[in-house]
Amino acid sequence: MSSSPSASIQERPEATIRLLREEDLPAADRIVRLAFGTFLGLPDPLNFMGDAEYVRTRWLADPSAVFGAELGGELVGTNFATRWGSVGFFGPLTIRPDMWDRGIAQQLLRPTMDLFKQWRIRHAGLFTFANSTKHVSLYQKFGFWPRFLTSLMELPIATEPASVSPRWARFSDLTVGDKQLCVQACRKLTNSIYEGLDVEREIRAVDGQRLGDTVLTWGGGELSGFAVCHAGAGTEAGSGKCYIKFGAVRSGPTAAREFLRLLDACREFGRSRGARTLIAGVNLARLDAYREMLQAGFRATTQGVAMERNGDPGYNRPEVYLIDDWR
Ligand SMILES: CC(C)(COP(=O)(O)OP(=O)(O)OC[C@H]1O[C@@H](n2cnc3c(N)ncnc32)[C@H](O)[C@@H]1OP(=O)(O)O)[C@@H](O)C(=O)NCCC(=O)NCCS
Repeated sequence: MSSSPSASIQERPEATIRLLREEDLPAADRIVRLAFGTFLGLPDPLNFMGDAEYVRTRWLADPSAVFGAELGGELVGTNFATRWGSVGFFGPLTIRPDMWDRGIAQQLLRPTMDLFKQWRIRHAGLFTFANSTKHVSLYQKFGFWPRFLTSLMELPIATEPASVSPRWARFSDLTVGDKQLCVQACRKLTNSIYEGLDVEREIRAVDGQRLGDTVLTWGGGELSGFAVCHAGAGTEAGSGKCYIKFGAVRSGPTAAREFLRLLDACREFGRSRGARTLIAGVNLARLDAYREMLQAGFRATTQGVAMERNGDPGYNRPEVYLIDDWR
């Protein structure tokens, strides 16, 4: 088999699959933008995502969880895996468009599945294009089944602060010791929603790379909710935007109220960073959270589908007030 990147359409070349290195990041970023931009039919595919950034930030968060596919000495594809304790997901998975349909994505997915095994992931999934039979059938080969739609939503942020501002705190203001205690409190909260769910990686990445902040709300002497937010250019949000990458509140009779309070706090945080739009995604199996978000003024911009290994719903239950979209 040829390993030339200009292999003919019938060939299924064997790529070298290896961990991505820092010097690969510019090429990897280009492939991500080009692949999505081409798939979506953008006039200039490389403009996909504007000044938002996934590649460097996710690689820095965990360089041991990002795979590259190399052919003839050139990078032709990448896949990023994320571990949230007992939960794992992957993406973006992208292949350079001239190499599509030659089995390279599948070659990248094999070590990703091995990594999930090594991490002892209980609930695994991904987010993809609901209307693409190619995407859905590709992931089904690895045991992932389409479940609920995931709605990517936006809420405008007014320039003036709300007259009644919720009380909230920023993770970045805490001392090193208090950060440790706070991460433990966040873990306790997520563990009460789904055993082993732990987003310390996101909290630390946002803090360490200064991508935004983790917004904290307290009630009855304990953490009632938190949201890991990216804000501005060079983050997963992009200029003028604040993106809730993960947010959750403690379950219970006051969960709906606490969820609205957390959304308000995120809006205030976004405003403090000059954002005019708050972005957040939710799996529609979390029906109560979705309804509250609509009620709060969020509007869907895009929807995709969450595919979950063995069709296991994980923490996607109607009463769970949790924001994430695995994009
Ligand atoms: C999606 C993407 C990663 C797939 O990469 P790829 O290397 O082309 O995928 P592979 O060749 O390994 O596998 C694709 C499989 O789908 C099959 N397929 C192609 N079109 C299909 C269709 N319309 N319906 C069903 N199956 C289809 C292919 O035949 C192949 O299966 P096979 O190996 O059994 O023949 C790549 O197209 C890409 O980068 N797209 C743009 C970015 C993107 O959408 N990323 C994924 C986000 S979730």
